[in-house]
Order: sequence, then structure tokens, then C-alpha cells
Amino acid sequence: MTSTIPPTTPAWVLVDTGKPLALKEVPIPTVLPGDVLVKVVAASFNPIDFIFNTVNFLKFPTNGTHALGCDFSGVVVQVGSAVRRFKVGDEVYGIGNLARSGSFSQYFAADSELISLKPTKASHLEAAVIPAGFLSSFIGTTPRPNTWAYIPGGAGGVSHYAVQIAQLQGSKVIASGGNEASLKYLKDLKVDHVFNYKSVDPVEEVRKVSGGGVQYVFDAVYTNESHVQSAKTLAKGGILSVLGELGAEPKAEAEKLGAVARNHNLGLYAWDPVFVPQRQFLAGGLAYAAQAFDKGLIKGHIAKTVSFEKIGEELFTSKGRSPAAGKIAVQIFETKL
Ligand SMILES: NC(=O)c1ccc[n+]([C@@H]2O[C@H](COP(=O)([O-])OP(=O)(O)OC[C@H]3O[C@@H](n4cnc5c(N)ncnc54)[C@H](OP(=O)(O)O)[C@@H]3O)[C@@H](O)[C@H]2O)c1
Repeated sequence: MTSTIPPTTPAWVLVDTGKPLALKEVPIPTVLPGDVLVKVVAASFNPIDFIFNTVNFLKFPTNGTHALGCDFSGVVVQVGSAVRRFKVGDEVYGIGNLARSGSFSQYFAADSELISLKPTKASHLEAAVIPAGFLSSFIGTTPRPNTWAYIPGGAGGVSHYAVQIAQLQGSKVIASGGNEASLKYLKDLKVDHVFNYKSVDPVEEVRKVSGGGVQYVFDAVYTNESHVQSAKTLAKGGILSVLGELGAEPKAEAEKLGAVARNHNLGLYAWDPVFVPQRQFLAGGLAYAAQAFDKGLIKGHIAKTVSFEKIGEELFTSKGRSPAAGKIAVQIFETKL
């Protein structure tokens, strides 16, 4: 593949915290020794993109120079001086280092520790909905064969991967949803038991179906209330993995049952260089996901695809969340490279 790198690139940048992103022409990002410069073919939304747009807790510049966006799939057009794993022309996918300018841009500098070769059988759109959702599930995963796993909100952008990872590990899976689209998606995935968390008591339902409690729960619902409920579904020796912060109450509930609760934070691992082992685990997770996709064992659910031109408006209205199960994908470059 030959590719001429232009001096500037269109990118969706922060112009004001709490206002939609603006489409501007910005300089091509600086390629650090550990980076690859990627021509981005597809991206996808995550709730964190909207949080950065509205809260900006990492204090990104709002002067129209910082692009948001985490998930991407694209083609390497330049490699940093220290990069040995990738070469120009490689098709790669992954997450951006959240502390730096992101993937809602036609060219972006990706930290090579956080990427992998993309699944060969996936289109760029199919690959771009995998990284953050899959990795958020993968870092917390300990399902075991022939034991029960429970995934509350199992059709969500993160959790639909947790369901598929648990199935891949041979677990029997219970998952909940709160609307018809989520419930249908989970049934289509052949989840062993699906229920509506709005109409039945999750603790009673999960304990009843599993015959006294589950060995593993992955909870990405992000509320203390859900964490407490999830802890109460555990069997003795079980493990609750939550995404994000874990409070004292769910921890104590798990301990009462002779189980453990722990937490993981993809966001932190992705930007704080202190987490070196976790970052190496992430690249391995992406390689694992690529293999699993190519073998037909996992697939992201694309609920909706938007064009590059619509990113600002769509991110602001959707809040980075899919309207019905799965993820929102973004087509950046239309043409096959
Ligand atoms: N810290 C990190 O590293 C990290 C990484 C990734 C994501 N996150 C966070 O993780 C959360 C989930 O992200 P996402 O992309 O999966 O969002 P999402 O696609 O909006 O999914 C959220 C899911 O939660 C379910 N849900 C809501 N209330 C529930 C309840 N009371 N009981 C059971 N399920 C419930 C929803 O189910 P229905 O739609 O079926 O009602 C939906 O499937 C967000 O807050 C995101 O910011 C954090």
C-alpha cells in the first residue's frame, strides 16, 4: 500500500466542555517513538467519549486541537522509531491512549502497546466496535467451564462481550436486559437464561436458576445498587468483577457469602503508564479477540452506523451509548485502502 500523509487532517475536536465537538482541520499528530500513525477507517462510540465531551476530567485543551475517540480500526501509514511489532500497511485495531488526542480523526497516533492486528475476517467497522467493550470485559473475566456466570445488562456495549467470553469459556450464562431489543439480542446469542431486570427481582431469579448462587458475575452497570445486587447472587467461592469503582457495601455482601468482589478499570490502564503489566495484557486481549472473531466465536453487535460528518451531533445525542443493545459504529474513510 502506498499512502501519502497529508500535513493536516479533519478531526472532531473539543471546543467547549459541554458543547458538541467541532469538525476542524488540525495538524497530523506527532508520532512518538512507541506510536504508529493510523489512517482510521472506522471508529466506535463509548460512554467515556461523551464524558470527556461534557466533564473533561483529564483537562484536555478546549482550543480546538484535541480530538476525542478511543476505539478504532485502520491502516498503519507510519511507525515510530521504537516500534517493532507493526509495519506500514498493517491493518490494526485497538484503543487510543485516553490522555492523548483520539480516533475521531482521519489520521491519529496510536500507542502501539494498545493495539493489535485486526481480525482478518472482520471489516474495519466490525473490528472498530470490539476494542474498549471487549477489553473492559476481558480484564475482569474469570468464568469457568460448567459453572454459572451472571452478566447483568448483558446486551450493553461492554457486557455483550462478557456474555460471549463466558460462553467461550464453557460457562452456563444468565443475563438480564431492560428492553425488547436487549432481551432479543441475548436470546439470539443462546444465553441459557434471560430475564428482564425491570420486571423480576434479579437476586431471587439468579439464585433460583443457578440452584443457590453463581460462581462468577461480571457487572458493568456502574451503580452501587447493581453491585450490591450482583454480590448477593454469588455462591460460596464465587467472584464478582465490577467495572469501575467498587464500594464497601458490595464487598461486604460478597464476603458474607464466602465470595470475593474486586474491580477493574480499563480507562485507567489505558492512560496511566504506571499500569505496565495491565497494558501488556490489553494488547494480548486484542490479539485473542481477533483470533476468536476469525474463528466465529465472538462478534460485536453494531446497532447503528453513522458517518464521519455526523460524529459531533450523534455523540452528543446518544451520549456514546447504543439506542438498542451493542454499539454505535462510525465510518471514517469509506473506501477500501
Ligand atoms: N472504567 C472503565 O474502564 C470503563 C470502560 C468501559 C465502560 N465503562 C462504563 O461502563 C458502563 C457501561 O458501558 P457500556 O458501553 O456497556 O454502556 P451501555 O451500552 O449503555 O450499556 C449499559 C447496560 O447497562 C444495562 N443496565 C442499566 N441499568 C441496569 C440495571 N439496573 N440492571 C441491569 N442492567 C442495567 C443496560 O441494559 P438495557 O439497555 O437492556 O436496559 C445496558 O445494557 C458505562 O457507565 C461506561 O462509562 C467504564
